[in-house]
Amino acid sequence: MQFRPNYVYAYVAFFLGLKQFRTLSLSRLSQINTLTSEDFNLSPSVARKQWNYRPYVVDSPSSCMEIYQCPEFSIGIFLIKPHKHMPFHDHPGMYGVMKVLFSSMTVTSYSKLEGQATPTQGIPVRCRFLSQLSLDSKSEPCVLYPEQGNIHQIQAGEEAVAFIDILAPPYNPKEGRDCNYYEKMETKEDDKQNISLMPGPNPSWFSCVPLSYNGPCPS
Ligand SMILES: [Fe+2]
Repeated sequence: MQFRPNYVYAYVAFFLGLKQFRTLSLSRLSQINTLTSEDFNLSPSVARKQWNYRPYVVDSPSSCMEIYQCPEFSIGIFLIKPHKHMPFHDHPGMYGVMKVLFSSMTVTSYSKLEGQATPTQGIPVRCRFLSQLSLDSKSEPCVLYPEQGNIHQIQAGEEAVAFIDILAPPYNPKEGRDCNYYEKMETKEDDKQNISLMPGPNPSWFSCVPLSYNGPCPS
């Protein structure tokens, strides 16, 4: 299968749009919106086959396929099993675009109230509710920003869900962009709009195992 030109354009449009990302309209992301699971040689049955093939993958709630990474951005596909979820996590200093390829999921997003301070384990982070979006393959891409909607939880629906995840810049612990996980706390100050999230290690119940990607790649 040839690498589709509009697929490359999606990368370029995304990258070029970064400088004005705050004002980037979703229409500029329309090229990303045209991507389908077929573009990646992926379908629920293909994903299920891979999931069930390797014994060590069976118990993991999610998996990922790395497609491309450069210093400016990364592109990958994440899969979450039915009724499973990714815990609250962040993308420090990063922009992100998620586009569902098949099935559906709910993304609950929060913004940190304290700006971009590096989270410290044991010190709760106050966050403001931003949105709870139900997304499927017909939905517009979901966008996150360094200061807005940077922390989210992703819940799969009744079927396994797959989504493409574009991050710019990519995670890089050496440059201070490691993934932090959070657990929701119950505090007196909490209400519907503001919650406290406790930073911590990767929860023991959660893992995201790599799967082989068999679709087209940038040459
Ligand atoms: Fe995420």
